[in-house]
Amino acid sequence: MKWRRKSACTYGATLPEQICLLCCHHLWTAESSFFSFSKHTEPLLDPLALQFEEGVLQICKMMTMTIYLIWGIAVVVCSCLWFHFGIRRRKIGEPPLENGLIPYLGCALKFGANPLEFLRANQRKHGHVFTCKLMGKYVHFITNSLSYHKVLCHGKYFDWKKFHYTTSAKAFGHRSIDPSDGNTSENIQSTFSRTLQGAALDALAAAMLENLQRALRPAGVWKTYSLGIFSFLLIFYRSPEAKKAAAEEVNKALENAGQQRSFESKPIHLNQVQLNDLPVLDSIIKEALRLSSASLNIRTAKEDFTLHLEDGSYNIRKDDIIALYPQLMHLDPEIYPDPLTFKYDRYLDENRKTKTTFYSNGIKLKYYYMPFGSGATICPGRLFAIQEIKQFLILMLLYFELELVESQIKCPPLDQSRAGLGILPPLNDIEFRYKPRHVSTCG
Ligand code: HEM
Repeated sequence: MKWRRKSACTYGATLPEQICLLCCHHLWTAESSFFSFSKHTEPLLDPLALQFEEGVLQICKMMTMTIYLIWGIAVVVCSCLWFHFGIRRRKIGEPPLENGLIPYLGCALKFGANPLEFLRANQRKHGHVFTCKLMGKYVHFITNSLSYHKVLCHGKYFDWKKFHYTTSAKAFGHRSIDPSDGNTSENIQSTFSRTLQGAALDALAAAMLENLQRALRPAGVWKTYSLGIFSFLLIFYRSPEAKKAAAEEVNKALENAGQQRSFESKPIHLNQVQLNDLPVLDSIIKEALRLSSASLNIRTAKEDFTLHLEDGSYNIRKDDIIALYPQLMHLDPEIYPDPLTFKYDRYLDENRKTKTTFYSNGIKLKYYYMPFGSGATICPGRLFAIQEIKQFLILMLLYFELELVESQIKCPPLDQSRAGLGILPPLNDIEFRYKPRHVSTCG
């Protein structure tokens, strides 16, 4: 029997005695083999050989179909098993459940793409309390701000440390700070409080104010910068009314403190009491954080228990997660009318003092502003963070003229991929420029 060998198979393989990895056919040389496949070699006109070759092709086709069939059955069986045993079924007394379509991930992709829209859609569908499967965990979202304080009343059922230790190590890349892992015996929470609050905060704030003044030494000409995070703070510069109110407050605070601004004399110093008595600046900063923060407050259930909320009671299973997403509240038009507009005086009452009364459904809210979380896990650096922003604003107002490079620029959309982690930066920076002012008072 003679075979005429093609120079190459359909996919270009040429060597004898090799397997073409793309089409899985053998390439045989005419001398060393007694058959060949038509894709690679063309037989001379020998009827017996042709029949034999067709038979082999049939067998190959059948084998391929059998393999596909086995794979198909395996996929169907696995899907059925997953559907039957792998997904959770809602029990009586539990919140409505969204398992999602993807094993393990559940709804994670949809949630990750835009948490705010995902939660709003589920709120419309299920009401204020619902459960979503996210990365193998079942997360109960509590979306009614009137229920937030009730969640925090169930502290004895929650374990928040494990989650926080893990997240902190992942976010900041340090070793485990969980005492049970043996790396530290320190009480991390008390360390945070000791170093970021109370007397330590006085020293921190004083040092920061001095350093800021050194860093912002005026150059005498316009300097251009881009500001990402806290860009909302700059929006208030577009409002002459807001700028005037803030400048008046800062001038008055300086006067009351018996201090004078001057580029030559020693740096100004405002202590914590003086810094805390600036309701207009407080309102501006709160409004900026309300618009740009998107934190996820998380607790893990230590045991099965019943969660009693404003909207009813719900059974929670051990190891499930209870989550609050305060951005829903911060952008709720009932609590904050016209929620996407920056209103510098939103947190001022009619006496220009700090406003603390906000309502939902006609009921006064206990929690209406939560960019720093809440309860046992509230950010220990929040007072320091606010003082820093305040000091920066004070210095800018006192010493510099500041303007947006494009005065009519719209605030860019926020980067939702950072949702859950605190402040959302805008998708692009906003350019501004500043130069030292040469008038006796700011404003
Ligand atoms: C505007 C600035 C800031 C925002 C919006 C913010 C927000 C937050 C949030 C939402 C949490 C988690 C709270 C929870 O899970 O309930 C947190 C935790 C934390 N923050 Fe901040 N933070 C800010 C600035 C700071 C600063 C300046 C420091 C320190 C210098 C700091 C130190 C910490 C620490 C150590 C934790 C972890 C606490 C724990 O695990 O118990 N933060 N922060």
